[in-house]
Amino acid sequence: MSLRQFAERVLYSDDLAEKLRRPETPLTDIEPGAPVRVELPVRPADLQFAPRRSAPAMPHPMSFDQPQRRGVAHHIMANHELQALEVMAFVMLAFPEAPSDFRRGLADVMQDEQRHTRLHIDRGADLGVPFGTLPVNSYFWTKGQKFNDVLDFVAGLSLTFEGRNLDHTLEFEDYFRKVGDRRSAAVMRVIHRDEIQHVAFGWEWLKRLKPSELSEWETYCAHLHWPLKPEKGIGEHFQKRPRLQAGMTEEFLQRLLTAKSEEDIKSS
Ligand SMILES: [Fe+2]
Ligand SMILES: [Fe+2]
Repeated sequence: MSLRQFAERVLYSDDLAEKLRRPETPLTDIEPGAPVRVELPVRPADLQFAPRRSAPAMPHPMSFDQPQRRGVAHHIMANHELQALEVMAFVMLAFPEAPSDFRRGLADVMQDEQRHTRLHIDRGADLGVPFGTLPVNSYFWTKGQKFNDVLDFVAGLSLTFEGRNLDHTLEFEDYFRKVGDRRSAAVMRVIHRDEIQHVAFGWEWLKRLKPSELSEWETYCAHLHWPLKPEKGIGEHFQKRPRLQAGMTEEFLQRLLTAKSEEDIKSS
């Protein structure tokens, strides 16, 4: 099947199993087609985006001794993963002129996002919270609507949201482990390892596509659209090692940390 057909199946199927189905290989990109900007992904009735603030907030980790609370956390994270997949499919359809290597790499990342969604769905169901039984938000999808080129996607999704997830995955692994939930902790560890590769993919394309006269940092900042800011790319506990593994430079990380501390001072 073509990369375009794969993206269309993700965005236009109202059946979750179809959205999460692996693409048929070999994947081709001979005719990427005309650009299309999808405004809303088609979703099953029980996974429609809820109005702002009506989806449950992430339960506090102090409540994670209750299996149901952990199930809610997996439900929320399953929706995050599904949105990441949908935003990537949006990018595939919106930017058919992007380099074919980028589009192929993106399709690989999408298959990881399909797997991550399933991991959270399965674990949430084990804990008594089947996917689709709670309202879900559209936070990442809405941000993706502002992407006007591939670098916007790289800056916003790969380096900011997936960058922050390098921290969150380890934080949640720790929360789950502390209450003795080794299975939920293992899900977070698996996703963390993949996320390093996803950030590496974004970093690689930031380097390849940036104008030669601009640094990585300058290009990154130029492609973040408000309300996204560099400091949003950091979670509760900044993890340097996975970012270095993803190829980010010491200089870039120093600037990221400086942006974060300036923001912390402003808001204190
Ligand atoms: Fe993911
Ligand atoms: Fe990812």
